[in-house]
Amino acid sequence: EPQNGEEGKVKFEDKLKTLDKGDFWTPPVNLYRYEGFWFFPDFLEGIMLAQEQFKSHPNDIILCTAPKAGTTWIKALAFAILSRHGYDFSSNPLLTTISHECVRYIEVDYIRNWTKRDPEIPLLATHMPYTSLPKSVMDSGCKIVYVGRDPKAVLVSLWHFLLKLGRKDKVQFPIEKAHELFCEGVSSYGPYWDHALGYWKASLERPNNVLFFKYEDMKRDPCSHVKRLAEFLGTPFSGEEEADAAVEKVIKLCSFETLSKLEVNKTGHIDSPSMPLANNLFFREGESKDWVNHLSKEMAERIDRISVEKFKDFGLSF
Ligand code: A3P
Repeated sequence: EPQNGEEGKVKFEDKLKTLDKGDFWTPPVNLYRYEGFWFFPDFLEGIMLAQEQFKSHPNDIILCTAPKAGTTWIKALAFAILSRHGYDFSSNPLLTTISHECVRYIEVDYIRNWTKRDPEIPLLATHMPYTSLPKSVMDSGCKIVYVGRDPKAVLVSLWHFLLKLGRKDKVQFPIEKAHELFCEGVSSYGPYWDHALGYWKASLERPNNVLFFKYEDMKRDPCSHVKRLAEFLGTPFSGEEEADAAVEKVIKLCSFETLSKLEVNKTGHIDSPSMPLANNLFFREGESKDWVNHLSKEMAERIDRISVEKFKDFGLSF
């Protein structure tokens, strides 16, 4: 059972006071630096709880992403793959439930509302950096799937998301300001580059445990990614399923076009630690190159320079 009562709250408040604080994105809520990354306090509380209490099972599958890198999509894909024998494609829960409710975040809701894992669909999700994952995730040998995305697209998506949350407008918080902070590494779960690199290195060191996908590659070639994902999750598509176009059906069910038009995703809400969030916040453009419409050439070049500098020794690029 989780241990988070009044005592836990006080302990957390005390810890928070010892951490570096960076405001900027959504004052009055600050970001705090913990283990080299920046977090909003409600997420950080969940991370600290998870680090103390989360018990990973060997058959867990943890979907890891930085915010705005493709979480909603990978949750839907993994859920559709693992649930395909229990539901046909016309009655899949994804048609009536946003993928964030089908696959829970460890630090947001799982750790606070301890529920049993479904042995058929043992999916959990997290935005935690690799180096901050609870120790039991390393020890259990469970599988991890990471989705990384071009940092330029992550920034633009994050900026729109936060504007839509309504705490600021474009005049108070222009993209130039968001860009500056993002490049400095001061963004939710940032520095983004370190986040992606942590999982990239892990995927090279532990390829049987950690699968690394890129959003742009998934958009370009969803078919081979869905097949690879199914194999990695231990449920490859059979010849018969392939002949029955099951791969294409998963892709269609989870596509931006399908999901963004569903009633539940147009009008529904999910709980988040601080407030309910409209499901439609998770569906904006769903494209790889929309950033060109929002970043100047100089802004894009600065991000690319940082990417080269951070990633060049490790063979990662977007
Ligand atoms: P854009 O803002 O660039 O459109 P996350 O799910 O990690 O919060 O990321 C949200 C981003 O993924 C948004 O990007 C959103 O539009 C996009 N997205 C959501 N569902 C998607 C899907 N099924 N396929 C592709 N992209 C999707």
